Amino acid sequence: MNIIKTEDYDELSEKASEIIIKLVRNKPDAVLGLATGSTPLGLYKRLVTDHKEHGTSYKKVRAVNLDEYIGLDKAHTQSYAYFMRKNLFDHIDINLNNTYIENGTATDEQAECERYDGILGRFPRDIQLLGLGSNGHIAFNEPGTKFDSTTHIVTLADSTVKDNARLFKDISEVPRKAYTMGLKSIMQAKKILLLANGLNKADAVAKLMYGKPTEELPASILYNHKDCTVILDQEAASKL
Ligand code: GLP
Repeated sequence: MNIIKTEDYDELSEKASEIIIKLVRNKPDAVLGLATGSTPLGLYKRLVTDHKEHGTSYKKVRAVNLDEYIGLDKAHTQSYAYFMRKNLFDHIDINLNNTYIENGTATDEQAECERYDGILGRFPRDIQLLGLGSNGHIAFNEPGTKFDSTTHIVTLADSTVKDNARLFKDISEVPRKAYTMGLKSIMQAKKILLLANGLNKADAVAKLMYGKPTEELPASILYNHKDCTVILDQEAASKL
């Protein structure tokens, strides 16, 4: 695990953007595993600026997302599908037909998991971007998730519902269920890039750095990945 400590969120976002931009320039048809949440927003802004100023093209890139709330249509402003369009896809030249995310309103939930696993199998990811939940989750793989999990349906931990409530009008609007890429599928990416910033991630980061792989801390599976980079800001690294 390669740990990069940065001064602040800006530097973290800058370093992360350098990694993605370099990959896309070297491999124009790269498959990017992307994430939602507040953490990658600075990175996405930089990808957009770079695309506009330097012309880095995403025409042949494929983007595969981690997770989606169950019950939210892709047009819902809190859906992760909407988040990706608003914060990245609408501002770069990616073909939306080459972007993939679980369908939050699929009628057959089990079939949806299988469909998504098929997509993950068809498009091996060159890199998987991850944020970190305050409880150590990655994607929506909550503590206790099996390390050999593939795409599945989760009931969100109370702490996750609380963490994500800030983005909704009221906590009662936060969906309790979601689809998530599983831990085994995350590990299949050639490279992993985990970003964590802010004090509310410091405990999870400390547990991650001082512990051993355990299903109680989903992010700890990343120890077993041969090419994993973790970028932290000072606050997230403050308990190390
Ligand atoms: C959410 C998402 C994760 C995300 C994490 C951290 O629940 N499902 O993919 O990485 O929590 O979110 P944030 O970046 O907003 O702190």
